[in-house]
Amino acid sequence: MSQRRDHWSSNAGLVLAATGSAIGLGNLWKFPFITWENNGGAFVLVYLICIAAVGLPIMMAELLIGRRSQKSAVGALKEAVASKWPGGRRLGGLVGFWGVLAGFILLSYYTVIAGWSLFYFFKTVGWTFGGYPAGMSAGDLFGAQVSNAGLQLALSLGFSVGTIAVVYFGVNKGIERIARLFLPILFGILLLMLFSALSMSGAGEALAHVFRPNFAELEREAVLEALGHSFFTLSLGMGAMITYGSYISRKLSVVKASGAIVALDTLIALIATVIMFSVIFSVAGMREQVSGSTVGMLFISLPELFYSEVPFGVVLGPLFYVLVALAALTSTISLLEVVSAYLIDQRGIARNKATIGAGAAIFVFTIFAALSFTGEGILSTMEIFKDKVGWFSTADHFVSNWMLPTGGFFVTLAAGWFMTREATRTELMDGSEPRWFHYGAWRFFIRWVAPVAVAAIIIAVIVGVDFS
Ligand code: PFF
Repeated sequence: MSQRRDHWSSNAGLVLAATGSAIGLGNLWKFPFITWENNGGAFVLVYLICIAAVGLPIMMAELLIGRRSQKSAVGALKEAVASKWPGGRRLGGLVGFWGVLAGFILLSYYTVIAGWSLFYFFKTVGWTFGGYPAGMSAGDLFGAQVSNAGLQLALSLGFSVGTIAVVYFGVNKGIERIARLFLPILFGILLLMLFSALSMSGAGEALAHVFRPNFAELEREAVLEALGHSFFTLSLGMGAMITYGSYISRKLSVVKASGAIVALDTLIALIATVIMFSVIFSVAGMREQVSGSTVGMLFISLPELFYSEVPFGVVLGPLFYVLVALAALTSTISLLEVVSAYLIDQRGIARNKATIGAGAAIFVFTIFAALSFTGEGILSTMEIFKDKVGWFSTADHFVSNWMLPTGGFFVTLAAGWFMTREATRTELMDGSEPRWFHYGAWRFFIRWVAPVAVAAIIIAVIVGVDFS
């Protein structure tokens, strides 16, 4: 049972793997459309405040909890809670398990959207060589692909197999290696797209929309949505960062890594949004089309525009969907790692069996999510939460609104109240922390600001505010 634990080989390895987890569909798909729905500027500013005041302190907390115990979510939270309250081990373990469950559910439906990127990759490659079919409606194409059950299953199976294959090889040979290879490619593609988008006529308006706040347009729900999204985008509240933290050796600084991960994730979300808005604002009538289906921005509005509007679009089109697929893969591997690491650390199962077993079990639920868009049957019509119709939306609502905030709330308590001051101080102040970091400030944020903010989300969810 006590196998030697793998560790990230360097600071860059840790930062790339964790940033890979953070950057994903949340940045490329969710953030642009919630920014759109909330009218840009002021929402973006609120989001940045949430990231700095809540996201960053919790990122440090999760990484330090993992590094301290050298155990994944369940074992780590048990130890964290037991530091001051030995009777609380069980409770800590339960919270860790809540995170593992969140990872399980989140991965099951995330894979479906990730699979769509494969579909659009193949389509765009076809259009690049054969031309974009005249008169084809992108909306109809999207509708046809999501309601094609066989296709949906094949795409998500392909993506699941890819995820399992990486995690199977472990922390260094699998996760870190893939992150080192893919993240630079991802940054490169995004920069190419940014140059192309900034040369379009809508770029100025896009930048103004994203960066010029107009508080009259900000609604109360938007604040909750910004806070809720900071958990999702930074992979917090479900033990992913605790698990990744448990592979950090004593030599690396938690504070520096957290700063880099949070900064990169935020930067990429902003760049992706500027790119998408620049394209949309450059085309007459596109604004109305996007407003009709904000969720479809990435898969309905964009594909066609690569072939009609975007400079170098014939090359950038397929590359863009490669980017989406890579971003999604580096996130899905972290989700599967949460579940696998639990089986390895707590149940003593060997990595190869744990990974395949967990991957297969999760795929059963991926099938439910994949069949949610077919338009018929209980999976597409069920409605447990108001207005969240179908299995996919139900699972997403439950994880994003309930599981991640409650998990995150508990992490703030574990790091701020249950762990001793000495313990958290030694983890964070190891002599290599950057100058901008102030331990007292972190402690204040993790004990007061973050829990109060997260409690506000939870109360809002309980009284029925919907921000997903
Ligand atoms: N951070 C990912 C994204 O923005 O797409 C989603 C995610 C991955 C959430 C891993 C949680 C997690 F553990």
